[in-house]
Amino acid sequence: MKRIAIASAKGGTGKTTTAVGLAHALSLCGLRVLLVDCDPRRHAAMQFGLPADPGLAALLQGGEANATEVRPLLWIVDSGGDELLQLEPALVTTSPRDCLWTRALRSMSGLDVVVFDCPPAPAAVQLHTVFVSDLVVIPVASDAFSLEGCQTLLRSLERAWGDEAREKSLAVLPTFYDPASESTRLFDTQLQPWRSTKVLQTRIRPSDSLRCAATRQRTIFEDAPESPAARDYLCLAEEMRAFVH
Ligand SMILES: Nc1ncnc2c1ncn2[C@@H]1O[C@H](COP(=O)(O)OP(=O)(O)OP(=O)(O)O)[C@@H](O)[C@H]1O
Ligand SMILES: [Mg+2]
Repeated sequence: MKRIAIASAKGGTGKTTTAVGLAHALSLCGLRVLLVDCDPRRHAAMQFGLPADPGLAALLQGGEANATEVRPLLWIVDSGGDELLQLEPALVTTSPRDCLWTRALRSMSGLDVVVFDCPPAPAAVQLHTVFVSDLVVIPVASDAFSLEGCQTLLRSLERAWGDEAREKSLAVLPTFYDPASESTRLFDTQLQPWRSTKVLQTRIRPSDSLRCAATRQRTIFEDAPESPAARDYLCLAEEMRAFVH
């Protein structure tokens, strides 16, 4: 079982859209996927119309987390909303190694991949999530501030774990990537020095279909399966499959 965290210290870069798109795409490829909503705002859970559930917050307090099967081969654990937010001070002082969540994940079986949708702030919940992940995908919205959000996340990881952070597999995913735009061309030049960190081949293009799908509480594969955005997320799933196996 591989664990993939979708994280960045910058808001609005397409983390939830990527977590939902990637999780559903991988399940459509026949993998057994668990999507864990790690954001107290519950955006991933909301996109599937899930009623509020203590989920991750319950797990972190020693209880059980409900995993709801929302689509064939795709399960979701809710974040627990405000209850998760209230656990933040306790998480700050807990080592990820001792965290109940780390232990719970280690004992999980029967899944091929777990995808975590992280909140934007470099909060303890994000650091713990990254700690338990095998790969961290960092969506970068093809602009300078998003790259800065990526750097902020890397700095927080280094502060939290020093050298151990450098051993994490990290991959930058350009989102809102429009090759015809001047800003994307500028972004490409800024990305050059980053080639030492893996930059994924997949590019997620700007697409109104993604916003419409989220508004209708459907995934892109249900709402606009023929759209360029659906193709982009299938492409990402293909790239990730090489990592999952
Ligand atoms: N490629 C895209 N093209 C157009 N709109 C997009 C794209 N990706 C995401 N969006 C839209 O942009 C908004 C922010 O996306 P999303 O919620 O996935 O970002 P996020 O990084 O999870 O945000 P937050 O940091 O607040 O959790 C949403 O309205 C979403 O539908
Ligand atoms: Mg989000």
